[in-house]
Order: sequence, then structure tokens, then C-alpha cells
Amino acid sequence: IPVEPFDLVIFGGTGDLARRKIFPGLYRRLADGQMPPEARLIGAARSDSDDAEFRALISAALEEFLPAENLRPEIVAQFLEMLSYVKIDALGEGGWPELKGKMREGVVHAFYFSVAPSLFGPIAERLKERGIADGQARIVVEKPFGHDLASAKALNASLAAHFDETQIYRIDHYLGKETVQNLMAVRFGNMLFEPLWNSQYVDHIQITVAETVGVGGRGEYYDRIGAMRDMVQNHLLQLVCLIAMEPPARYDHDAVRDEKLKVIRALDPMEPDDIVRGQYAAGPGGPSYLEDVGDPRSRTESFLAMRLEVSNWRWAGTPFYVRTGKRLKARASEIAIVFKDAPHSIFDVPRGRHSNILSIRLQPNEGMQLGVTIKEPGPGGMRLIDVPLDMTFAEALGDDHDAIPDAYERLIMDVIRGNQTLFMRGDEVEAAWAWTDPVIAGWEARGHIPSPYDQGSSGPDDALMLLHRDGRRWREIRP
Ligand code: BG6
Repeated sequence: IPVEPFDLVIFGGTGDLARRKIFPGLYRRLADGQMPPEARLIGAARSDSDDAEFRALISAALEEFLPAENLRPEIVAQFLEMLSYVKIDALGEGGWPELKGKMREGVVHAFYFSVAPSLFGPIAERLKERGIADGQARIVVEKPFGHDLASAKALNASLAAHFDETQIYRIDHYLGKETVQNLMAVRFGNMLFEPLWNSQYVDHIQITVAETVGVGGRGEYYDRIGAMRDMVQNHLLQLVCLIAMEPPARYDHDAVRDEKLKVIRALDPMEPDDIVRGQYAAGPGGPSYLEDVGDPRSRTESFLAMRLEVSNWRWAGTPFYVRTGKRLKARASEIAIVFKDAPHSIFDVPRGRHSNILSIRLQPNEGMQLGVTIKEPGPGGMRLIDVPLDMTFAEALGDDHDAIPDAYERLIMDVIRGNQTLFMRGDEVEAAWAWTDPVIAGWEARGHIPSPYDQGSSGPDDALMLLHRDGRRWREIRP
């Protein structure tokens, strides 16, 4: 179903995110019939340029970042027609009247801040004070949303001075991933899982977000941030929330976000023993982390594994093990809900098999598998084997699999529809930082030095120990 016509202004419209994700995603929505051809996409940036040059830039980006078979010449031409450019001075006066002149009456207005967070406040102020954005307009902001609680509060305040919370869409692109949303569908759309979804039946939970890329190219930025701020404070905590939250009364923005907030607030403070930090060594993929960031003394982590406890009635006693890192064995993100063994075995099988595992694969090859124990077919007596019930979407959806929208395109369409469910509310972001800050402060105060790990491995050995000492093991990182 097509969304309403809209004017979308992208500040930072010539930047990396815009070229890589935003415009290619919007093109796919047009090709798919979800974005109406009456929509207008306005790139705003500080460089001298014009509509023709901007169209050429975006046309090149479509070619670079979309598979050739996605590009249909007549749709590309139609898409480029929808684009225009305005040169804008975010901190000054230039360009704002031109921008105002471009906004049409009677359509949805959305403003995407794909710029440094220090510009969020100044842009919000100009949009409001110059009457470009009204009380219905939506603004979209990207991570990093602050680097600690104080800066996140300051950013929230600078937006709240001009816009209502119902107008602010804070993107965490992990919430736009197909399987992440499916997690909610599976939990709350079925009778099968929810009664078992607690510490009585769940032994533990594993979340792995493994990447093969290093930080080369963005080393300077990354070295100030590290895996905790880059991945855990936002993406991984959001996954923890969706797994751990209570069923919301409705699938509605505040109901869902209220429940997620309660999870973040229930997270226990971390003990040093429950944290493993690493840095990749030099290897086949390229230089070491320290060489990539150009600082032999850097103590920033490119790998992090932690044992989290959600201290509430449902989860007390069920650890959540999370890990993420660069230059690991494979690009693979997975959530595994590992159920307890049956309380008593009538078959002669060892304990601790954990054969019931619901694994939710975020990428690549989105899908879900449920491990169950069955009898090995044949006349060999009662021999048990574990088999996966496979719910891989590519198979279930056949050729339509390619039509699964990328996280960004889905989230932008939600902005136009005015649906905030998959966006982070200000208090949620602040609560996440309130939990993150003391963890970082703790390892900084201890002067902790991350352990080196081999490229192409599963991270430092200490990360394996984190589970071994609890009598458990990580699932394999498989491509
Ligand atoms: C970004 C991080 O938010 O997410 C990157 O800043 C990381 O460091 C990326 O590589 C991972 O996203 P995805 O969608 O490729 O898993």
C-alpha cells in the first residue's frame, strides 16, 4: 500500500549514509510501488551544487550500491526527477528561505538529520523558527545519539526545545531488520513460545553480532567510541529488550517502548568478571586494530562479550550472553534462546544437551530454526537425534525474498506513516546510557587493556571462558 505523498529533506544529503542507504532504499520503495511518485526528496548540504549535479551524484550512488538487476531505467529516471538540491548553512542563514520555498502544502513533511549530532540543535531551531517545520513535521535523527548520558540528555533537550517527542524519530537500524521484527511476531503472535519464555524454561540466551570488517577507514571515529558505544549501547541492548520485554498491551509505539524501557532499567550493573574486551591482531584481513587506528597505546575495544542479568521476576537466574566484534570469523548475527533440558529423561541420554534452541538469524540468510529431538527414523530402536525445524524465509518466501526491504527503507516508510514503534524514545536512550556509563567508567578506572585476538577467530579466549565457567558454550559463528 503506498504511503501518503511527502516532502523529505535530507540534511547531509550528499554524505555517505545518504548515498549508501537512504537514497538506494528510497529508490527500492518507489520501484516497489510503496513510495508515491508525487513524493519529493530534497538533498540539503553545505557544498555548492545544483539539482543536475545532485541527481548525477545520486544516480551514481544507485549504480554503486544497488544490484544492476534492481535498476529499471524508467524508474531510475522517475526517481531522479523527484530529487532536488538546496545549499544550506546549518549554522548560518544561507539556504533556509529556499528550503522553505520548496516545501509543499498538504503533504507530510519529514526532515532527516544525517549530520553530526552537534548540528541537531541548530538545525531543529532553524526549522522551527523559520516556520519550515510545523507541529506535524517529523524529524529523524541517527546514532550516535550522544556518547554518554550527559550528552544524550543535552541532545534530547536541544530537540525538545523545538519539537514534541511524538515528532522525533531516533533511528536504530537494527529495529528495521526483518527478523528483529519477526521476533515480536513470533513471541506475541503465537501461543507456543510465550508460556516458556522465562527463567523456568530458558537456560540462557546468546546474542552474537559478528562482523568481518575492521575499522580501517573510520579508525579515528571508532577509536573514540569502541564496541560498547558503537554496538552494545544501542543495537545489542535493543535486541535484549525485544527478547526480554513483557508482552505490551498493544502493538503501539508507547506500549512497546514502555516495556523496552523497563528491561533496560532492570539490567544489573556489571561486574568486571562478566566483561571481556578485545582488539584484533594483524592478520590476513589486514593490519591490527592498533595499526588501523594509528595509536599503539589505544585501549578501545573492537570486541566485547558480556554476561548480562535482567533482574526481574521473569528473568532472574537466566543470563544473557552478548558479544560483538570486528574482524571475526564470519559476518553472522544470531539470537539463540537455549531452553533447559527436559526435567527427567526416560531415554538414556546425557544431561546438558540443550536440544531445544530457538535460533533467530538476523543476517545473512534471515530465518529461524527450532531445534527439536526426534527418534532417528528406521528400525534401530529408540535412538534420538536433534533436528532443526527450519523456517528460513528465503525458502518460505520463494522469489519474493529479494523484496524484503532493507532496514532503512522500512524505517523511513514508518516515519512517513507516523509510526514510532520501531524508533527509540528519548527516555529509552537515556536509560541505555545510564546503564552504559558506569560500565565504561569501571574499565577506564581499572586501566583495563583489551586482549588481542586473531583475525578470523571468535574473539579472545576469555570470551569462551565467560560461558565455560558457567558450564555452557557459545554457538559457532557460521557464515
Ligand atoms: C553501525 C556501526 O551502527 O552498525 C558499525 O556503527 C557497524 O560499526 C554497523 O558495522 C553494523 O550494521 P549491520 O546492519 O551491517 O549489521
